[in-house]
This record gives sequence, C-alpha cells and structure tokens, in this order.
Amino acid sequence: MKYTNQVIWITGASSGIGEAIALEMAKEKTKLVLSARRAEVLEVVAKKCTDLGAECLVLPMDVTDFDSIEGNVNILLGKFGRVDVLINNAGISQRGLTADTDFEVDRRIMEINYFGNIALTKAVLPMMLKQGNGQIVPISSLVGIFGFPQRSAYSASKHALHGFYETMQVEYYNENLKVNIICPGRIKTDISVNSLTQDGTKYGKMDSGQAKGISAEKCAQIIIRSMKKNKRLTVIGGEGKLMVFLKKFIPPLFYKVASNISAT
Ligand SMILES: NC(=O)c1ccc[n+]([C@@H]2O[C@H](COP(=O)([O-])OP(=O)(O)OC[C@H]3O[C@@H](n4cnc5c(N)ncnc54)[C@H](OP(=O)(O)O)[C@@H]3O)[C@@H](O)[C@H]2O)c1
Repeated sequence: MKYTNQVIWITGASSGIGEAIALEMAKEKTKLVLSARRAEVLEVVAKKCTDLGAECLVLPMDVTDFDSIEGNVNILLGKFGRVDVLINNAGISQRGLTADTDFEVDRRIMEINYFGNIALTKAVLPMMLKQGNGQIVPISSLVGIFGFPQRSAYSASKHALHGFYETMQVEYYNENLKVNIICPGRIKTDISVNSLTQDGTKYGKMDSGQAKGISAEKCAQIIIRSMKKNKRLTVIGGEGKLMVFLKKFIPPLFYKVASNISAT
C-alpha cells in the first residue's frame, strides 16, 4: 500500500520526527500539509519534499492557537479539498523534578501536547467520518505508557493522549477510521534541546541518552510501516519494549530499573 495522492497533514514538520515523516511520505508522491510555528524552516522542508515528488502546502501554526484552527483547515481545504491522514506530532518535552516544576510548566506542556493535539483531531474528525475514510496518528511516547524521572508533565500529557485515542479506537471501531498510537523511545532529535525546565526556560542541551537514540529517519520508517498495517499501538525501540514488558509482568523490577535510568 502506498499513500500516493493522499492528503497528509503533519504537525511538528519543521524538525526531527515530523520532518523525517514528511520526507519519507514525499517519496510516495503525496500531498503534504506541513505545520509548525517556524514558517521559514517549513519552507526548507517543503522544498526537499517537493524535490522528492510531493505537492506541499506550508501551513504555519501554533497548535495552542485554538482560534486559528478553523481558518487553517479552510486554507488546507481550499488547496487540497480533503484530509486523508493527520499525523499529530508537534510536541515538547521536559527536564525537571516534580517538586521543583512550576505549575505553569505543567499547563504549558499539557496545552501543546494534549489540547493542541486533540483540537486538530476534533477539527478533521467530522469530515473524515463524512468522507468514509481517515487516519489519525498521535505521536505519544514510551512515557505515555509508564512514568519516567523528570517528565511528570510530559508523561501525563502523553498518558492523556492514550485515554483520548483509545476511546476513539473503541467508539469508531465499525467506521473506516484508523487511529494509530505511536510510542517512540529515545530518538536522536532536538527534543531535549527544546525541552522546558522547571521554571519554563529552554533546557538547551542535547542529552547523552538522546544522542544515543535511533535516527529520526528510522523512526519515521517504522511509523509509516505501522500506519500501513493499521497497528493500534506501536512501541519503537528495543529498550522501550523491555520496559513495557517489565511494567506489565514484573512491576517491582520495572520501578527499580526506571528509577535508576538517567533522565538526561
Ligand atoms: N525524540 C524522542 O526521543 C521522542 C520520543 C518519544 C516521543 N517523541 C515525540 O515526537 C514528537 C516530535 O518530537 P521530536 O523528537 O521530533 O522533537 P523536535 O525536533 O523538538 O520537534 C518538535 C516539533 O514540534 C513543533 N512544535 C513545538 N511546539 C509547537 C507548537 N506550540 N505549535 C506547533 N508546533 C510546535 C516544533 O516546531 P516549531 O518549533 O517550528 O514550532 C518541531 O517541529 C513530539 O510529540 C515528541 O513528544 C519524541
């Protein structure tokens, strides 16, 4: 199966996993809608995707600017007339212990990772149901399955996505609507650099754990393969799969191991 000619909306397309998904999808001659806040960076990604054979619309947006969503959807529909796939990838991580983290940081992370994500899903869901097909792909995280040091707000925002999207998987079981939750482990992107610290400032460092992660390209290929197989839940990375196994079958060992893993 290929996504040729399908309209694929990717958020967080200006870097990391979102950019890598855009480049992989471009090879299948898709119609791509690329969103993130940095318009000029999106233009560069769009040029690369066009060179690979895609048709692109750069649609800059802040996913927490909820009032802009309707206008952006109208621009998208004006260009392509429909949305077949929404890859809800925009997100931000955290570095800070629970006791030290300002409540405003918890709110900010939840706004971007949860409300910013589900707001777009709600904007396209009625038209997907009406057109009789659609695919929604929330990019969660391993820490959407279990808690992890210095990630209380981030982990909570990803856990919230699971509640929302698992409900959709049940509610629309009989519809031609695919919902694929993706849980990457450590992927080598700027996610740690862009993370928020306890006081909301940018962390600004590439963590050693992050630097050892798998490439965004490899991650994107796994995501697209899972989408084609319509997998409800995909865990990416061997260590992550082991942790999920431990949490399910040997919980005491999971807590011991998780509390000793370096958070940076
Ligand atoms: N890398 C990992 O190890 C890892 C592991 C598990 C899950 N994930 C998830 O994968 C997703 C992508 O992360 P990444 O690793 O590729 O990190 P990244 O390189 O920092 O990419 C984050 C993307 O989100 C966009 N973004 C951030 N805030 C936004 C906002 N308010 N509105 C619109 N776009 C926004 C950024 O673009 P602008 O700055 O241009 O807005 C950027 O394109 C995230 O949801 C993350 O939680 C990553």
